[in-house]
Amino acid sequence: MKNDTQSEVAAIILEPMQGTAGNVIPPDDFVQAVREIANEFDALLIADEILTGFGRTGTMWASDQFGLKPDVMTIGKGIGGGFPLSAVASSFDRMSAKPFGEPSGSSSSYGGNPLAAAAGLGAVEVILEDKLVENSARVGALMLAALKELQEKYRFIGDVRGRGLMIGVELVADRTTKQPLDKTITRALFHEALERGLITMSYSHAIRINPPLVISEDEAMNGIDILDQSFAAIARKFGLD
Ligand SMILES: Cc1ncc(COP(=O)(O)O)c(C=O)c1O
Repeated sequence: MKNDTQSEVAAIILEPMQGTAGNVIPPDDFVQAVREIANEFDALLIADEILTGFGRTGTMWASDQFGLKPDVMTIGKGIGGGFPLSAVASSFDRMSAKPFGEPSGSSSSYGGNPLAAAAGLGAVEVILEDKLVENSARVGALMLAALKELQEKYRFIGDVRGRGLMIGVELVADRTTKQPLDKTITRALFHEALERGLITMSYSHAIRINPPLVISEDEAMNGIDILDQSFAAIARKFGLD
């Protein structure tokens, strides 16, 4: 039964897979539990698929992997293939509801820009025609397997996780306590990889690997080789296992 506080919840927003936090996959039942809480509070469930959408996680939407049906979706990044474009998507009824549906309720100086719309259409056509969602799933699985092998080799790799081309590698000082590897070391890793021709998001201990959806198997494996060499270099330099 609802009380006054419950009826004040308008919406709950979640990332089906967290990006900036380190490419974190939620437990299987977490996303459905959030859906149930939203239902209970009569609140809209907004899935932020700005990072995860358009094939990034090996399916068109990360929500698909959790059987999640959001009420509203925020989308961006992949939708424009590099062109600055984003969107809010929902059912016709919700988008027409007031005040959002008023002429000035949701307008924007740049909303509905024809050039952006053409870029978005072009990007989506290429994603579908070149089967980039499938490429994300296939190459992502190969990268994940190769990174899990590196985890066997280096004790400072505490976790390797991912779906499609959204992979997280967590570097730890101690596998039991999961204490993060010091920033001095992750910064050194960044430079070791850069010197070998690979730019990494290793400025934090939770490295995020989000290559372009067009990446080939050879390019992906070359990147993993460079990571392996860079891990070996920091292991030598800082006396890590
Ligand atoms: C999940 C997620 N939501 C929202 C945003 C913000 O998008 P924008 O930079 O278009 O404001 C980002 C940006 O990285 C993101 O990763």
